[in-house]
Amino acid sequence: MQNLGPAYYTDPKVYEQERRAVFWNSWQLLGPASLVDSPGDYLATEIAGAKVFAIRDHLGALRAFRNVCRHRGARLLPEGTGRCKKIRCPYHGWVYDLAGVLQRTPWFGNDPDFDRHNWPLGEIGLEVWRGLLFVSVHESQTLDVQLGDVIGELAAEPIETYTLTDQRHLVFDANWKIYTDNFVEGYHIPGIHPEFFAAVDYQYFETTVHNNMVRMTAPLRKDLFYRGKWLWMWPNWTLSFFDGGMNTSRINPLGHGRTELLYHFYFADASDAGAALREEVITRNMAVIEEDFEVCCETQKNYASGGYTPGVLSAHHERGVYWFQEKLKEVIDRV
Ligand code: FES
Ligand SMILES: [Fe+2]
Repeated sequence: MQNLGPAYYTDPKVYEQERRAVFWNSWQLLGPASLVDSPGDYLATEIAGAKVFAIRDHLGALRAFRNVCRHRGARLLPEGTGRCKKIRCPYHGWVYDLAGVLQRTPWFGNDPDFDRHNWPLGEIGLEVWRGLLFVSVHESQTLDVQLGDVIGELAAEPIETYTLTDQRHLVFDANWKIYTDNFVEGYHIPGIHPEFFAAVDYQYFETTVHNNMVRMTAPLRKDLFYRGKWLWMWPNWTLSFFDGGMNTSRINPLGHGRTELLYHFYFADASDAGAALREEVITRNMAVIEEDFEVCCETQKNYASGGYTPGVLSAHHERGVYWFQEKLKEVIDRV
């Protein structure tokens, strides 16, 4: 098993293939559906540079659209969450209702050929699975098919009963696949995460590959905020358990050499009394996540320097890396 060639991480042409074949052609986790609970609530974000938003309409239905005005392409809603009665384009003031129908075009003037009903917002796929909201710019397969083995993996976990309490946003200068390669192996734990290493029985750290999912488990030796199970799902989301909670993340590329992580922290106990405990879990978890950034960014530079030819992967620890890389090659070769 050989590592992926460095050009996959540094070539802007590969990134353009990935945007189309991976990110705009798969279901992307945006967060809990509770973020868009009431009519007019929206959540706007980018998926590998494609602006999208999910919104709850007047009748209570959830929909998702391109965050792109049909007139001359302006962004309609700022990234983040909010609530609106109508969707008003900031550029020339076109107004859409919450179902994406163009309602008004102030000052446009008379044009007998123009019928506002022909210019609704571009709707995209939206599904809610166990309280989690997913959207898909193009739908090439159902969400269930993409989720694969994580459906069974989480069947006994009460994930929809947890409450989102905190979010974190992190940006670093490395290709999204360098971070993913790193996430799906525990081989680097002794070198990069000494405290984590001390807290688990590393000789029993296990990585297994499933349908669109990599599972890592380890017995805990001493008190660790993690529960000893970490999941990564194709193409770019993760879920890790704590006692009484979990986090999820979306690994979103900002370019071929820059990546953001959108973390959501969920807990069973969302009370004020539990705030200090939650804060401690989040702080310790963020520290582990940030420990990975330096090695990812320096590896990115080495890949870009011409100084690296693909090395060999550990059959014991890096099966997840190999599976992810093979799947990626297969998917982008299709475009
Ligand atoms: S671009 Fe939206 S109204 Fe002109
Ligand atoms: Fe790590």
